Amino acid sequence: MAYFNKKIVEDVDVDGKRVLLRCDFNVPLDENGEVTNTRRIDESLRTIKYLLLHGAKVILCSHMGRPSGVIDPKLSLKPVANDLSKKLGSEVKLADDVVGSSARALCSNLKNGEAVLLENLRFRIEEQDNEESFAKELASLADIFVNDAFGTAHRKHASTYGVTRFLPSVGGYLMQKEIETMCSILENPKRPFVSILGGAKVSDKFNVINRLLEKVDVLVVGGGMAYTFMNAMGYSVGTSICEYDKADMAKDLMVKARDRGVKLVMPMDNIVGLSYSPDTEFKLVSSDSIPDGWTGMDIGPKTEKLFADAIEGAGTVVWNGPMGVSEWENFASGTCAVARAIAQSGAVSIIGGGDSAASVDKLGFADRMTHISTGGGASLRLLEGAELPGIEGLNDK
Ligand code: 3PG
Repeated sequence: MAYFNKKIVEDVDVDGKRVLLRCDFNVPLDENGEVTNTRRIDESLRTIKYLLLHGAKVILCSHMGRPSGVIDPKLSLKPVANDLSKKLGSEVKLADDVVGSSARALCSNLKNGEAVLLENLRFRIEEQDNEESFAKELASLADIFVNDAFGTAHRKHASTYGVTRFLPSVGGYLMQKEIETMCSILENPKRPFVSILGGAKVSDKFNVINRLLEKVDVLVVGGGMAYTFMNAMGYSVGTSICEYDKADMAKDLMVKARDRGVKLVMPMDNIVGLSYSPDTEFKLVSSDSIPDGWTGMDIGPKTEKLFADAIEGAGTVVWNGPMGVSEWENFASGTCAVARAIAQSGAVSIIGGGDSAASVDKLGFADRMTHISTGGGASLRLLEGAELPGIEGLNDK
């Protein structure tokens, strides 16, 4: 059964055509502006190379960060253009603007089999407002639109949705792979089906937890959102991130888990810090009594073992979101433990979200995962069963 019923690049003639290719090059940068994880760029190469090889004039575009219409040089796509040039073996010129004179000049001088990159789409506020005149301007650069930006497919923006009203629009290989792989695994998961969710807020993930409770056998909750559940259970959470006003939401989810026979696995110990900073003093405490003035920063060793035991023997694992402040070394252990347990489990696995994927990459476990999604929010929306605007607008097969 096909889950991606939209036309893809192979279904249109791209030879000699100007192709506007929307990618998700929203990649992490270090303080020197170097790309620290190139997964999203690497995963886009298949579609780019296909188009170049088939004689297209490729106009690449993406957002980076959330500049909301302000031109911020730190969010320029220059580092992406450099990385692409290296990987494609020929220079990918970066326009100075999005649809201005620089972009137009570069696009009109493009030869078959060449690529250019427009500057950060979100330097124009009209992008996220999905403004029609801006979508039309973008579309006027090209003859065909290809959307390969799975990571941004949940956004109804000018470059993900608006342009599809003005151009023949098809999907790229990455978009197709993400949908096909995740939907086929979720349609018929090998059991037991275990989901591990982390990240800051229950409210962000309410819909996905709700939906997963109808599918999974075990739900493991870690990361910031666990403190909202702990508060709902009457535990003290100190100064941990906690949505006090979402206690009822957390209780409803716990009741639903119980009613459906889903095993809910929560932290039993936590690493807490005196302040929210990488070098803060920290200690290990029991999850039911986080002292006043201390902030939950990670799960503790007993919880790591508890979560690893829940993952061991799983048939399918879906993981989204870190277990603690994984970008800070002192608080990365829980997230690494989950990555390790999934790698060792031999389960069919789907990893979503930048922090989860980054820890898998850092530990060298990427080859042992079935699918590492390039989407965070987009993969959550897919898990929820929601329509993705970036796919909706594409032409049907
Ligand atoms: C992401 O990193 O999840 C995507 O690039 C989408 O970014 P956004 O959440 O800023 O729209």
